[in-house]
Amino acid sequence: MTKKIVALAGDGIGPEIMAASLQVLAAVAEKHGFDYQVEEKAFGGAGIDALGHPLPADTLAAAKEADAILLAAIGGPQYDKATVRPEEGLLALRKELGLFANIRPVRIFDALKHLSPLKAERIAGVDFVVVRELTGGIYFGDHILEERSARDTNAYSAEEIDRIVRKAFDIAKGRRKLVTSIDKQNVLATSKLWRTVADQVAKDYPDVTLEHQLVDSAAMLMITKPAHFDVIVTENLFGDILSDEASVLPGSLGVMPSASHSVNGPSLYEPIHGSAPDIAGKGIANPISMILSVAMMLRESFDMVEAAEQIERAVERTLQASILTADLGGKASTQEMTEAIMNYL
Ligand code: NAD
Ligand code: IPM
Ligand code: MN
Repeated sequence: MTKKIVALAGDGIGPEIMAASLQVLAAVAEKHGFDYQVEEKAFGGAGIDALGHPLPADTLAAAKEADAILLAAIGGPQYDKATVRPEEGLLALRKELGLFANIRPVRIFDALKHLSPLKAERIAGVDFVVVRELTGGIYFGDHILEERSARDTNAYSAEEIDRIVRKAFDIAKGRRKLVTSIDKQNVLATSKLWRTVADQVAKDYPDVTLEHQLVDSAAMLMITKPAHFDVIVTENLFGDILSDEASVLPGSLGVMPSASHSVNGPSLYEPIHGSAPDIAGKGIANPISMILSVAMMLRESFDMVEAAEQIERAVERTLQASILTADLGGKASTQEMTEAIMNYL
């Protein structure tokens, strides 16, 4: 049956890297007889410009009907003072689709080792996954801005914590079997509940070790001993910050994909980075984050493990051949890198 993929290119470098990833998807689909159709929809700033809303009704309806969703990036400085922001569309989409589990893998590419600001011995063996809670916490509490005061509320229910921690344990079972739960339980009530629930969940996974860390020292450990981590699970805001910190290890945000899952609806695949307005429109954005998001989609939504691995290997060979975009210290354009990846498929 034809699989329906909704593509949300968004803003800035979004359309450039989306186009690149759809070329790679087409090439892989042909090799594997994957029958699909892509529906492109307005989203983010592009949704505001075309239809006055960052998540137009028609875009949301298509996303709900999709078998999977690809999202490139949204946002830009032109919306900084606008009444509606592109980011609101992203948060609304995550909430509407119930995408509570955001999986952000962090691995080092051999060919990029020299780009890491950390010494070779520190990044050797780095391979972990950040499991970020995506539909709760301070992102979705009240945001009250008054003239001389402001407050944001952070709330989590035990059920919300339970399901994301379980997700982390399920992933850890197929890996090194270490879950690091990161919180701020020396200050926050939500973190105290987080720890209690994580301890309860751990009882159902006797073969997986659970450790707890405070977010401040965990941020330090991610630099001093990043190979320690296997599966990190943490709340929405800490996960946002720690995953950008983690992107420094492989050398660029431009190589970091992600997957977001709900209980039983369509999953969404997107780079962890933003719309990179500083390089938009120049044809030099790194498409690997989006291309690896397509690989995650093939594996996790369509069970096409071989096709996913084929893309991942092609990306590695391209990097080994030193076909590198500017963020990786090279001169290749987005299109040159994309073509190289397709040649190595
Ligand atoms: P950013 O992630 O867009 O960029 C940070 C830096 O990384 C920039 O120097 C950029 O050029 C570089 N970079 C990011 N992706 C790259 C790629 N694929 N290739 C080469 N270089 C790349 O973060 P920012 O500048 O803080 O945010 C810009 C806008 O993006 C803001 O409006 C923000 O809200 C939005 N944003 C959106 C998402 C998303 O769509 N999921 C995520 C983060 C930020
Ligand atoms: C991300 C982004 C978003 C977030 C922004 C754009 C709302 O930074 O996907 O990591 O904070 O979740
Ligand atoms: Mn972020």
